[in-house]
Amino acid sequence: MNTTNLHLVRHAATVTRHRRAALFGHRSAVLWFTGLSGAGKSTLAHAVEESLHQRGSHTYVLDGDNVRHGLCSDLRFSLEDRSENIRRIGETAKLFVDAGCIVLTAFISPLRIDREQARRLFEVGDFFEIYCRASIEICEQRDIKGLYQKARRGEIKEFTGISSPYEEPIQPDLIIDTGAESLEDSVERVLAFLLLRDVLKPSPS
Ligand SMILES: Nc1ncnc2c1ncn2[C@@H]1O[C@H](COP(=O)(O)OP(=O)(O)O)[C@@H](O)[C@H]1O
Ligand SMILES: [Mg+2]
Repeated sequence: MNTTNLHLVRHAATVTRHRRAALFGHRSAVLWFTGLSGAGKSTLAHAVEESLHQRGSHTYVLDGDNVRHGLCSDLRFSLEDRSENIRRIGETAKLFVDAGCIVLTAFISPLRIDREQARRLFEVGDFFEIYCRASIEICEQRDIKGLYQKARRGEIKEFTGISSPYEEPIQPDLIIDTGAESLEDSVERVLAFLLLRDVLKPSPS
């Protein structure tokens, strides 16, 4: 909805996102994990959160299935509903960034345009697209939720990678080969990336 004629005036907070984040010794940012179902988005996002939490960071994971129980419970899996799902997640992540959090989102987010629109909500350097790269064969072999089997039997319509598209990121900020490397190595690589991009500060040794 266009809100230009609603006479809304933002109230500027004196406590800014940077002051909020500084309490925890980092910058706030969004790590946007994308990839096929079973690629490892949730596993990696939660493992990275665990590691960040242990170093005293302020974190939150927005995870696909959980959000679809509440904020997005009215949405299904048509491309239109998926876009609206991603729009709401983007806006929610923005609030978390404003709250000084490192927010990790774990959604298939299959369309480039939806991910690009999410990116546009943020300042440069606040949004990092992390591609959890695992082939459809590997994801289907894992089939941890049994969804691929159901999709092959035609019991799930519009299943990403089988009957609904997944558009690989063209220039993601980071690629993690979750189909090949260990979870520990993947976590290490994300943390190294966050240091490189000045989200985290090196721990004093
Ligand atoms: N490097 C890795 N990163 C994340 N998950 C991995 C990795 N290697 C193997 N896995 C396994 O892949 C599966 C990914 O499942 P899940 O995280 O639920 O995927 P998604 O959230 O993308 O649908 C888990 O069983 C996890 O243990
Ligand atoms: Mg998941």
